[in-house]
Amino acid sequence: MATKEQINKERLPGHVAIIMDGNGRWAKKRGNQRIFGHKEGVKSVRETVEAAADLGISHITLYAFSRENWNRPKHEIEALMSLLISTIDREIKTLIENNIRLLCIGDITGLPDNVRGKIAEAKKKTENNTGLNLVLALNYSARWELAEAMRNFGNDVKQGRTEDDLDNDTVKKYLTTKDIPDPDLLIRTSGECRLSNFLLWQLAYTELYFTEVLWPDFRKENFYEAIVDYQNRERRFGKTSGQLKDQNESNKKKNNAPHYG
Ligand code: FPP
Repeated sequence: MATKEQINKERLPGHVAIIMDGNGRWAKKRGNQRIFGHKEGVKSVRETVEAAADLGISHITLYAFSRENWNRPKHEIEALMSLLISTIDREIKTLIENNIRLLCIGDITGLPDNVRGKIAEAKKKTENNTGLNLVLALNYSARWELAEAMRNFGNDVKQGRTEDDLDNDTVKKYLTTKDIPDPDLLIRTSGECRLSNFLLWQLAYTELYFTEVLWPDFRKENFYEAIVDYQNRERRFGKTSGQLKDQNESNKKKNNAPHYG
């Protein structure tokens, strides 16, 4: 497992997105109900958020409840919603003390009233914080988000806007992540290697990291390990390796060039 000291502070990912998977299996392995795994998973959320804030990462997005999760047994959904409320209640003081801003993506209108109220209250209390942005994906799915974006764009065209300028930046403005940079790193726990309808547009150039560790076992050192792995990758954004080397050399020269006047 990696240590904090192995991380290059100059090359941190700005935004880390996480698919927290394996809570149910973790509980089952111990002969417990699935919700026991979700409760234990909150400890991993705490560890990860603490580590991200401490490193100076700007955004972390957690896939806490997908639109597909409504298909789970009613008692599990209710337990997850209660867990959200109790976690926000318990952690709000820490979020404020640590300058963390809470944000949400997804169809918040589809959540129960008490959850919506709790989230609105926590967002308000942390809205002026300038440290880590903690983004909870709730009642979120990427295909829903893209369909919404198309619907809203279509409505705007009906109202008189032109579609001629439709480009990447325009699409971004119609997504629930419009004010959030695209993730640099995606972590998925529990050995599953798929995206499960998470941030499909935004992950276009994201580095993907899959680990066998089940979410309730995920600790700071696992998070550091994912970052070290990310830092060993070459992000080419469609360019060649050679082009990147030239670009780095030219940047180095620019930075070292003497400044006159
Ligand atoms: C996936 O594991 C996990 C979830 C669907 C819920 C994640 C929720 C938490 C960690 C707790 C609440 C979070 C916050 C931010 C307060 P799974 O149930 O699919 O596990 P399995 O694949 O082993 O069945």
